[in-house]
Amino acid sequence: MAEFKSKVKNSTIEELDLAKDVPDLFLADNLMAYIQRDYLKQDISAEQKSLLSKMDKMIEQVKSSDVVVLAYPMFNFSMPAVVKAWFDSIMLKGHTWNAQDGKYLGLMKGKKALTIVSSGGSYSTGPMKALEHAVSLSNAEFQFMGFSEVKGILAEGMNGAEDAKSSNLTKAFEEIQAIAHEWYQ
Ligand SMILES: Cc1cc2nc3c(=O)[nH]c(=O)nc-3n(C[C@H](O)[C@H](O)[C@H](O)COP(=O)(O)O)c2cc1C
Repeated sequence: MAEFKSKVKNSTIEELDLAKDVPDLFLADNLMAYIQRDYLKQDISAEQKSLLSKMDKMIEQVKSSDVVVLAYPMFNFSMPAVVKAWFDSIMLKGHTWNAQDGKYLGLMKGKKALTIVSSGGSYSTGPMKALEHAVSLSNAEFQFMGFSEVKGILAEGMNGAEDAKSSNLTKAFEEIQAIAHEWYQ
């Protein structure tokens, strides 16, 4: 994050701490409100609108951004539940993606997304490789929404030997710096 902050001089940075501003989960009532509003194009009640208001706010934040930087630790080979809930909140039909002529269409063209994940174990080679569902899922979600540039970095082996941990961290910081440089010059 610091690498980006130092480069982004003429832009506004907004931070969203998902551990404090926890996204809503899709449950029966808000899921029905979403289907009625965005699939069936029905009018929904004020109460139903308020059930979708936090998701709508999170969508607006993403739509008003040029660059999204998402950082989280790997939990159980994937993303923490709050991060998945954030993706579920913003990936609403007609807002960040759509379906047209039997095809999916991402609506976030022109935007860039970087995911930075730390993990206790290592996944770049060996038998654990198939279990990496954190960076790969983030990248798939951003690509589905049509982001023009999607990048992901895994700072792996954070629970491993000190020397490997340190060199993996250095490698991740260098990768972040290179992306910040490429995107902001
Ligand atoms: C609930 C939980 C689940 C975790 N699951 C995984 C996992 O599946 N794979 C993995 O490599 N590390 C896993 N970890 C380790 C974290 O990813 C690791 O501690 C973190 O990325 C390193 O950041 P830290 O130094 O801030 O703890 C898990 C940690 C917690 C707390």
